[in-house]
Amino acid sequence: MPTSKPQPRVLVTRAIFPAVLAHLAAHCEVESNQDDTLWGPDELLSRLQGKAGVLTTTSEAINAELLRQCPDLRMVANMAVGYNNFDLPAMTAAGVLGTNTPDVLTESTADFGFALLMATARRITESEHFLRAGQWGRWRYDLFAGAEVHGSTLGIIGMGRIGQGIARRAHLGFGMRVVYHNRSKLDDITEAALGATYLSKEELLKVADHVMLVVPYSAASHHTIGAPELALMKPTATLVNIARGGVVDDAALAQALRERRIAAAGLDVFEGEPTVHPGLLDVPNVVLTPHIASATMGTRTAMAQLAVDNLIGYLVDGRALTPLNTPVNKQLAATNKNKDML
Ligand code: 8YV
Repeated sequence: MPTSKPQPRVLVTRAIFPAVLAHLAAHCEVESNQDDTLWGPDELLSRLQGKAGVLTTTSEAINAELLRQCPDLRMVANMAVGYNNFDLPAMTAAGVLGTNTPDVLTESTADFGFALLMATARRITESEHFLRAGQWGRWRYDLFAGAEVHGSTLGIIGMGRIGQGIARRAHLGFGMRVVYHNRSKLDDITEAALGATYLSKEELLKVADHVMLVVPYSAASHHTIGAPELALMKPTATLVNIARGGVVDDAALAQALRERRIAAAGLDVFEGEPTVHPGLLDVPNVVLTPHIASATMGTRTAMAQLAVDNLIGYLVDGRALTPLNTPVNKQLAATNKNKDML
């Protein structure tokens, strides 16, 4: 009688959509966390024992020390496009595949970047707080007069898929002049379609009426915007960060906002989130949201589904949809290690 193959054992670190979890459970033996209990590093490590795969969010750090203690682990599927929680070289060396969730969140995240830009430039949350506090006595010519969005210059730092989505909205929808800075310049056809001009970071900061950050976090992008960069911006300019905490020096930004050295900021991500720098909570000219740029029901479902399809694809069928690395073969690595010991 044919014996069925044992299902791979998989951990899901946070609550996800029940239907997506059920799909995973049809192919893998799943330990989940639908109560969304916060696990510390020790608990994560102990639950990872014996697991071949894990679905993570960006809150879980996957580093060499953890990998050393999880010999059965073969893949980590991040439910995020960003993967700065992964030590990818360590994963590759340990024979562990990493995957992320690109594309499915591009348009919703670009929508949100634009929403945050509009809210920041047109002072939407600041004026709502004023109204709710019962301070709206009468009309005034300059009551919450903000900055123009249409026809202004948008500077985008980080021109990947999401950056290009924002550029498209700005150029085609709002008639904005788009300038951008990126590791590499786009090809001429893409630049023309987006109406985008490549500038150095310094030039961009000087000419932009609005600056939008969409760059992945890494050691190289740490504090892309700090005190020296804020000093280059126009006093009327706004800054929006939908990238990652740490791309902006939040303390320097809080000070610049307090001293009105730039007009306003819109922030969806923070250094050390969910803690927010107290200086940012103190100033009125900042729109603050709790890391929700990709948060539509459709997009978050698609992100969870892609993470699960990556797990099933790799652990059951040997092929992931959106791999980030080519892991060193575990058995080969073990053989080589033994050889070195001779
Ligand atoms: C995630 C994000 O929701 O995709 C990313 O990189 O920042 C968000 O869309 C968040 O990181 C949870 O993993």
